[in-house]
Amino acid sequence: MLDLFGKAILDYQTQNAPESLITATSISEEDEMDVEYLFRSYDLMPKLEQKALQLAYGKVLDVGSGAGSHALSLQNDRNLAVTAIDISENAIKTCQLRGIQNAIAIDILQFNTTEKFDTILLLMNGTGIFETLSKTAVYLDKLKTLLNADGQILIDSSDLIYMFDEDEDGGAWIPGNTYYGELTFTVQYKGETERPFPWLYLDYNTLQNAAFANGFNCELISEGEHYDYLARLTLA
Ligand SMILES: C[S@@+](CC[C@H](N)C(=O)[O-])C[C@H]1O[C@@H](n2cnc3c(N)ncnc32)[C@H](O)[C@@H]1O
Repeated sequence: MLDLFGKAILDYQTQNAPESLITATSISEEDEMDVEYLFRSYDLMPKLEQKALQLAYGKVLDVGSGAGSHALSLQNDRNLAVTAIDISENAIKTCQLRGIQNAIAIDILQFNTTEKFDTILLLMNGTGIFETLSKTAVYLDKLKTLLNADGQILIDSSDLIYMFDEDEDGGAWIPGNTYYGELTFTVQYKGETERPFPWLYLDYNTLQNAAFANGFNCELISEGEHYDYLARLTLA
């Protein structure tokens, strides 16, 4: 892994001539992403993310923290004990430079600890980390081991159905062989290209089915303005 996403984050933090990231997916064209967005303050966060931060309590684990904006807000504004983890070493270095006290560079699946958390956050299409629909159970099982008995997982995603053309009956032309939210993501930064990686978007019903099948309750907390939503999973 070239860790281009992390490099862009660390470049922004250290003022090392940061540039925009170029992203593309298997169903969309290249798009520029301003790295500054990953450093958003509470006021600039989407409502769904603000809602997640309002609902957070106790010991918090921010999974896929990126530059750590959610973790930082909870640590500094709410005085909560937060651990940020991310697979990107550069992102975690940035979290540390920003003052996050517990920031660990690790893949969530390798995160072995006896510690349990009251709130686990997965934000900015948190289901992306699950990679594919079939791997979702593996990730949910892992998250279960990290959650206190009365804890909560707060996770956001979007229903990508709007990305697909409608036929004349109003139905969508979606691929028949895979789940339509299973994308392949490509990232370019400063002339380098990351190896494409899987990234999963889940509509709420599919997330709920996966949650039920893996021993969780699932609740729709709120819906955003464009097919996006925030959900809460608790142990069944
Ligand atoms: C879309 S970014 C979101 C960053 C941050 N949550 C935010 O809202 O700004 C997804 C993050 O998940 C991290 N990530 C992807 N797979 C991961 C894994 N298996 N374990 C831990 N982090 C992972 C990526 O490195 C990236 O920083």
